[in-house]
Amino acid sequence: MNNIRDKIFKVRKPKPNFPVFKEIKERFSPRHFSSESIPEKDLQSILEAARWTPSGFNFQPWYFYWAKHGEASFNKIVACLAKYNRYAKNAAVLIVACYLKKSQGKKSYYRHDLGAAAMSLVLQAQHLGYYTRQMGEFNNRKLLVSLAIDKEHHPFVIIALGRLGDYEMIDSSLLKRELDPRPRKKDFVKKL
Ligand SMILES: Cc1cc2nc3c(=O)[nH]c(=O)nc-3n(C[C@H](O)[C@H](O)[C@H](O)COP(=O)(O)O)c2cc1C
Repeated sequence: MNNIRDKIFKVRKPKPNFPVFKEIKERFSPRHFSSESIPEKDLQSILEAARWTPSGFNFQPWYFYWAKHGEASFNKIVACLAKYNRYAKNAAVLIVACYLKKSQGKKSYYRHDLGAAAMSLVLQAQHLGYYTRQMGEFNNRKLLVSLAIDKEHHPFVIIALGRLGDYEMIDSSLLKRELDPRPRKKDFVKKL
C-alpha cells in the first residue's frame, strides 16, 4: 500500500456524478512524472489520436514538436518553462503543441482546434496508462530562438507526458501542490 499515492489519488482522481468512460474517470494532471522511456509505438498512437480530431473547415491547424527525456532539445524546452513548471523535467517526453493561425470567414477556430487535438492526445495517453499535464506558462520567445520550430507555428501549451512518478520519492513542496483540492464547478449546464 502506497500511502502518499492513495492520499493524492483521493484528492486528484475525478469523482463523477454520472457514469463516464474510464479515461475520463482516471485522468488527472500530475506534477510528478517518471522519466521511464515510452515505447515508440505508444508515442505514435498518442500523436495519431490528435490527427483524427475534428477541426473547423478541417484545417487541422495543430503541430506537435516533441523531445525525449535526456535529449538536448528536451533540456531546452525545460529551460523555457516557468520556474514553477520545472517539475516537468522528470517527464519522459515533452510536447510543444502549436497552432497555425488559419482563418476563413469571420470566425477563427485554431485555438479551439488545437485544444481539441491536445485533449485527444491526452485521452489516448491515459488509455495507454500514461499521464499528462499541459502547461501554458513558458517563455515563448526563448522557445522559438532555441528550437527549430516553424515560424508559422505558434507554441501554445507544452505537454508533459509519462508514467506517474513514485510518489514515495516526491519532494515536499510538490507534494503540497499535489494535495491541493481539485474543485469542479456544478453550474455549467442549463436546460433551455
Ligand atoms: C491551457 C492550459 C494551460 C495550463 N497551464 C498550466 C501551467 O502553466 N502550469 C501547470 O502546472 N498546470 C497548467 N495547466 C494544468 C491545469 O492547472 C489543470 O488541468 C487544472 O488544474 C485541472 O486539473 P486536472 O487536469 O487534474 O483536472 C494548464 C492546463 C491547460 C488546459
